Amino acid sequence: NGAAPAAGKEQRLIVVSNRLPVTISKDAQGVYHFKMSSGGLVSALSGCKKTMKFTWIGWPGKEIPEEDRELVNRRLMDEYDCYPVYLADDLADRHYNGFSNSILWPLFHYHPGEMNFDAANWLAYREANMRFADVVAGMVQAGDMVWVQDYHLMLLPMLLRSVISGEGSQGEMVRRELGRVKKGVDKEVVGGMMGMKEEGVATALGVGEEGEDEGVEILDEVAEEGTTSAPAPAVPKKVKRPAFGRGMSQFQKQEAVAKEKGKDGVRIGFFLHTPFPSSEIYRILPVRREILLGVLQCDLIGFHTYDYARHFLSSCTRILGLETMPNGIEHEGRYTQVGTFPIGIDPMQFVDGIREEGIVKRLQALKARFKGCKVIIGVDRLDYIKGVPQKLQSLEIFLSQHPEWVGKVVLVQLAIPSRQDVEEYQNLRACVNELVGRINGRFGTVEFMPIHYLHKSVPIDELTAMYALADACLVTSTRDGMNLVSYEYISSQVDGHGVMILSEFAGAAQSLNGSLIVNPWDLQSTADAIHTALTMTEEAKKSNWEKLFAYVSKYTAEAWGVSFVNELTRLSGHPPSGPSI
Ligand code: ADP
Ligand code: G6P
Repeated sequence: NGAAPAAGKEQRLIVVSNRLPVTISKDAQGVYHFKMSSGGLVSALSGCKKTMKFTWIGWPGKEIPEEDRELVNRRLMDEYDCYPVYLADDLADRHYNGFSNSILWPLFHYHPGEMNFDAANWLAYREANMRFADVVAGMVQAGDMVWVQDYHLMLLPMLLRSVISGEGSQGEMVRRELGRVKKGVDKEVVGGMMGMKEEGVATALGVGEEGEDEGVEILDEVAEEGTTSAPAPAVPKKVKRPAFGRGMSQFQKQEAVAKEKGKDGVRIGFFLHTPFPSSEIYRILPVRREILLGVLQCDLIGFHTYDYARHFLSSCTRILGLETMPNGIEHEGRYTQVGTFPIGIDPMQFVDGIREEGIVKRLQALKARFKGCKVIIGVDRLDYIKGVPQKLQSLEIFLSQHPEWVGKVVLVQLAIPSRQDVEEYQNLRACVNELVGRINGRFGTVEFMPIHYLHKSVPIDELTAMYALADACLVTSTRDGMNLVSYEYISSQVDGHGVMILSEFAGAAQSLNGSLIVNPWDLQSTADAIHTALTMTEEAKKSNWEKLFAYVSKYTAEAWGVSFVNELTRLSGHPPSGPSI
């Protein structure tokens, strides 16, 4: 498979994510507002954008009427270098709130209790992924690289391959099926898509067609073992794979058709910004096969940590019955490499930021405001995975056990509003409000409040000044893909050498040696860590910070992007001959 672009042609990179760096909203007067998006995905990709060249495709957060699109598109292109995928608001609601954030997000973060499965939302997830596939397929050229981001788009690799290579087969079939399901006539397909009729799923995904490779036998055999509630097979079945070069694999067929269309050799990569859970949790998902098959059409799949990659591979073995290698999987004649690519930030944004005049002034003002007080900072999207209630309860324990610190330490907790249409996020908001009220009521005075709680998005300069001010940063996520707030705090502490208190359940805990690692469920251990952080010697703080800063400066967003793209460039759809990542 010669994936190289035609002679003289530039090899282009197309990045696709649900969230763009800017989110559009419309007010009651019909005026559009463009606002910087928040979250680790946007921070890291924006960091990459400073040196890497790519076209960024994504959902702008709002359906825009036809007549306004030209104007909006131009602004997106000119000011943000982005290209939109428009989704009807109802479809976006079901895709984003209904499936991505009510099914995949809780499940991937070990919160199956928060998972609300609804067949219509699953169909919307598929349809939204199909819309993305159509837009990307319209842009992609032979030899391009497409880098798909995160859990919102896990079917996109498969759908994109179908659209660019087999319009007459899988692409059309998926489209027809979606059309039927939308009209609500094909109950069997809906059942199949929910995982209740597994044979239907295999057909719908185009993997059970007559005469396809022998790996399908395994898929069907596993499917016959029972409904989704049955345990996955403990021992993987031996997969009879077609040898490369014997007959034509699905992969080769796709490439042959794509070649005719002038779209061959397109490499597809996928990066998951969340954890990938243990197969014991993952297998709860009613559409567990479809999601795995969706990403297995990639050449390269990346995760933040080795554990997440291992969980993914073992899910492929247990759920699809596929035989995996330490660094990848062969499926339908395609070799998909699986690797670890820890994400990072652009640390210089903060290192330089704290020297900027505006931020220096703001920092001085904040220092005067909190004179005589130590400051602990917390910065989280208000999400149940961030463990904000546990953080507040730990502070309460600390203050009750160390009354000498009452009046001498404050927690500044920035809670960035997030996914407010999802019920669990509304419940969390009420719970946090109550805890803040209770703790401030218990330890506060007219002059002093132990918790300064802001439920709003703050400008980046204000955030940088807050990071620079704080004597410690407290991250208590109960699960977190990486957690870039910890990286940003460390980068803003060139002068202060503040202490990083970090949950062992954040991906960052595996890299940030020099932090105080806590189990957020063990409230006492976090309370103890707060005490340790506040009483640590300057020498110990400096020595820890130096280790942390060395890591954050080396493993940047740019290093992450470059290493992933280099690896994707190197791959050709066949197993590497030598050792890989
Ligand atoms: P998550 O991706 O789950 O939100 P991370 O800690 O990895 O968690 O990333 C959060 C990111 O959001 C950080 O880069 C942080 O700077 C950014 N952020 C926080 N507040 C804002 C804001 N008001 N506007 C834009 N980005 C923000
Ligand atoms: C996490 C996800 C990202 C997402 C971000 C913000 O980092 O992995 O994909 O963009 O949270 O969430 P939002 O729902 O606002 O996009």
